[in-house]
Amino acid sequence: MTDLDHRARDILCRNDRGGYTVPTHGLYPFQWNWDSAFVALGFAGFDRDRAWQELETLVSAQWADGMIPHIVFHQHDEGYFPGPGVWATGQTPPTSGITQPPVLATVVRRLWEEEGADPAHPRMRALYRACLASHRWFHTYRDPLGNGLAMVTHNWETGRDNSSEWDEALARVDTSGVGSYQRRDTGHVDAAMRPKQSEYDRYVAILQFGRDCGWDHRRIADEGPFRMIDVGTSMILLRANRDLLILAEAIGDAPAAAELRARIALSEQGMDWLWNEEVGAYCSRDATTGASSALVTNASFLAFYAGVGTPARHARLIAALARIEAGTRFLLPSLEAGSRDYDHRRYWRGPIWLVVSYMVALGLAEHGEAAWSERLRRDSARLIEAAGFYESFSPETGEGSGGGDFSWTAAMWLAWCGR
Ligand code: SER
Repeated sequence: MTDLDHRARDILCRNDRGGYTVPTHGLYPFQWNWDSAFVALGFAGFDRDRAWQELETLVSAQWADGMIPHIVFHQHDEGYFPGPGVWATGQTPPTSGITQPPVLATVVRRLWEEEGADPAHPRMRALYRACLASHRWFHTYRDPLGNGLAMVTHNWETGRDNSSEWDEALARVDTSGVGSYQRRDTGHVDAAMRPKQSEYDRYVAILQFGRDCGWDHRRIADEGPFRMIDVGTSMILLRANRDLLILAEAIGDAPAAAELRARIALSEQGMDWLWNEEVGAYCSRDATTGASSALVTNASFLAFYAGVGTPARHARLIAALARIEAGTRFLLPSLEAGSRDYDHRRYWRGPIWLVVSYMVALGLAEHGEAAWSERLRRDSARLIEAAGFYESFSPETGEGSGGGDFSWTAAMWLAWCGR
């Protein structure tokens, strides 16, 4: 074990609040949905029970309609805005009213296979049911075009909060009723590394719309002020459906397996709608206006992870990767340098996020792009070695940005780039 292995384990143990892990002390003092899924991969290398428990604690907050919320407020903490009183979802335990990218089924499959892939595995079986309900929730509420893609109704659901992909849709959000509130994030980290105030007002306005309709997910999907087909969530859901299918087949749940196969086929076709031939990449699109973001982000490369694209499209994606590599020091920036409002320090407008790099690297390796996959792994390791376990990193200087001692960065070291 290296010193960094010890430090990574230590971060997970110190961010453990008893059955769940906070992403980082201070800035994010609760349980976050996709953070926990990645964190489980980190625990898996040294504490199997704790890895499963992280996922079980998350799904213990699943809603009756199937949604797994993006934040679970297990404890009181004034240091975060918007807290449970602002969301007002009426859930026990208190949660937010939106979801996050469904990486869960993919993680469950990996943990289960590492333990011998026994179809009777009770913890896998319980999580399988939770994942199935969550995926059905996406299909019921978040597929307005009926093409197997995933719509998000809040930019926070994408996990890529302030990506430039959302700018045009957010510009249409009315903020006149937002009122006054106090941000807490900029009290923890440099405001230059966080979304701008004008953007935050829009995030709050979208939240208030959901709260004002009592978190009626049908109404939010049909009438909400932000309706975006996110390339990231769509690709991650497709991958998760493939992994859930493996579990359904192992268990012998034939009706669910048939349902999943149909969803997978539909999504594979549906991805065509996100392909932007001019840009040469998969890009998010507005469900209301149909406009393509026409932006190459780290999520564009999740096509490999999802297993979609023709050889010609893969060649164009690799060309985009080569172009990005030529213009920066470290892969994989969240936004291509030179794009409008690119900023190498500001959250999802440039900085590198290792969990996305991990998923992209996995997909590249599965598609015969071992050299690119290894390049992503090596760059990710170098970032941690030089800067530490930050939330994100500058693709230009390698400096850490956002919170420090970050759980999912530590998990990525243990489960991927530090190996
Ligand atoms: N990432 C969001 C925040 O910054 C919440 O999911 O608060």
